[in-house]
Amino acid sequence: MKNISRRTFSKGTLGSLLTFSLLESLFCRDAFTREIKPVVAKWLSELNANAKDVKNRKLTQIEWQEQVETLMAQANLGDLMKFVDFDRLTEKIPLSDRGERAFAKKFPKVEGLPTQLVFGHQIFALKQDCSVAPHGHNNMATAFLVLQGNCHGRHYDRLEDGKDFMIIKPTLDEQFSAGQYSTVSDHKDNIHWFKAKSKSAYIFNIHVLNVNENIQKGGRVYVDPFGEKLAHGLVKAKTLSKKQAYDKFG
Ligand SMILES: [Fe+2]
Repeated sequence: MKNISRRTFSKGTLGSLLTFSLLESLFCRDAFTREIKPVVAKWLSELNANAKDVKNRKLTQIEWQEQVETLMAQANLGDLMKFVDFDRLTEKIPLSDRGERAFAKKFPKVEGLPTQLVFGHQIFALKQDCSVAPHGHNNMATAFLVLQGNCHGRHYDRLEDGKDFMIIKPTLDEQFSAGQYSTVSDHKDNIHWFKAKSKSAYIFNIHVLNVNENIQKGGRVYVDPFGEKLAHGLVKAKTLSKKQAYDKFG
């Protein structure tokens, strides 16, 4: 406690209270419990099984992407968001003026949901015209599901890494509304960039880290997709620091 300022403390506390109430409401409300919680628990446990399988190499990363997309399609999000009054829950969450604000909270114990999840999860909140800046991942499989609002989502295949650049190829450029989703792996659509196009936008994110345990490096690699245009639609894209990426795209 003594190492954090009052401001940091109150911001952090507010954030965790809001996050808690958000997920508490998403997963613990009585009516939600009775009717939908078992469905959500099953859905999450299937995501978990897939995450285990991709780590154990029972699934390739591309198979993981296909299976997670199938599960995302089953999320039936519109009903859930209406049911939990998502607007009211999120109206007081402060949004950043640049980039995303991430909220993470453990899922409560739910019958049917494994206690040890293999995947990480968080919610990204974005103000209009702010972005999860364009970045690729190393040794990570991840998925975005738009919970509320509209986003402009772009993906790129990462074909080659240079010293301070990547050779990339645009693979997806679409408007995403609530319930729409996309996935990333080392092998397909590795770079993604999501920009909020509505007053606010909320994205549920899951990620499986260290998919290949023999490779240690992980995390994000930021990139400027507006680089030198090469033949066959390829782009030589400069890699960026986090600050450069958020100054330009956040
Ligand atoms: Fe990402």
